[in-house]
Amino acid sequence: MSLPYTIAVASGDGIGPEVCDQAIRVLKSVATAFGHSFIFTEALVGGAAYEKNGEHLPKKTLEICESADAILFGSVGGPVHLQHEPKWANAERNAILGIRKHFSLAINVRPSKVYSQLSHLSPLKAEVIGGGVDIVIIRELVGGAYFGLHETSEDGRFARDDMTYTYEQIEAAIRFGFLTAMGRPRRLLTVVDKANVLETSRLWRKVAKDIAPEFPDVKMDFMYVDNAAMQLVTRPTAFDVIVTENLFGDILSDEASVLPGSLGLMPSASLTTNGLTLSGSGRSRKLHLFEPIGGTAPDIAGKGVANPIAQILSAAMLLRFGLQMEDEASAVEEAVDRALGAGYRTGDLRGAGAVETSGTTPVGCEGMGTAIIEQLEKITTERKKKN
Ligand code: IPM
Ligand code: MG
Repeated sequence: MSLPYTIAVASGDGIGPEVCDQAIRVLKSVATAFGHSFIFTEALVGGAAYEKNGEHLPKKTLEICESADAILFGSVGGPVHLQHEPKWANAERNAILGIRKHFSLAINVRPSKVYSQLSHLSPLKAEVIGGGVDIVIIRELVGGAYFGLHETSEDGRFARDDMTYTYEQIEAAIRFGFLTAMGRPRRLLTVVDKANVLETSRLWRKVAKDIAPEFPDVKMDFMYVDNAAMQLVTRPTAFDVIVTENLFGDILSDEASVLPGSLGLMPSASLTTNGLTLSGSGRSRKLHLFEPIGGTAPDIAGKGVANPIAQILSAAMLLRFGLQMEDEASAVEEAVDRALGAGYRTGDLRGAGAVETSGTTPVGCEGMGTAIIEQLEKITTERKKKN
């Protein structure tokens, strides 16, 4: 058995804790099958942290994360009607933006894939989905209007949020876009901007053109963000990898996330651009964060019905990008695929009314976790037999 890896778990609010529990079960099963040892440390964040510490991102939480090898993040935030309460006011902004900034999590990777088993759940027509949608959105995460100067005048009649970018910030995102495209069969990279209006977008184009010659095998094109929003629902199969700035990426990744039919399927990775540091386990590593795209879903929280797949696929991304365990990551992804193929469905995957009941098994949050672990065990046994 190798040295243990420490995984900080910031499960947060709403469905966060219950779906994180299932991701932890899956990671423990990975550890057993592949001979690893994972130590899970709990880090409070969001409303859960506010209750105990009076803040949404306590120093202690940052310390726990700093001494870990990777961060598994759940979700943060409260019900809309309680946003005026101090526990929930600005919880997302304080916790999520705070942690992104603190750890320089500048590159956000958001895959959007329509599972063939679930293509009937997509809001798009079968002929639009065609042979399958498989898009990766790379979103710059610590620049642009999110982190520019925010200001409201004293009389409340003027406000500003400055959108700024440096060459280096853009370069990091664009490079990651090219590298991602290189690793995929189609090797297409679409740089999404608003270069007909914005200076920052013109800088994005310049950087992309500067870097493109280093990646002659990637076919790069540019698209205005308004057009991209339209093409994502009219010709989603035309996209492979999209790279874009923070705010555009926020909007487009939510749009892309509904293509598969449920937010409960959508993982993400937020990768740091900070240099190498030493972790608690003594290994050199970069500290990355992994979280589902969906929110806290307060209406179903605590009922044991939430879909844990987005969190489990985020754990797979943690294995791949956080711990460089590609075989383990792909085994988890295959297990999710097979559990869906075997017909296991949480409520969000059952469609409206009684559509698609034959050949499927309704499960709750834990039941889906168990179904995925069963498939994972089969996959690892099969793989061992092959070797
Ligand atoms: C996301 C979320 C966050 C964002 C919010 C909660 C601050 O929408 O991760 O996409 O806008 O980045
Ligand atoms: Mg968003």
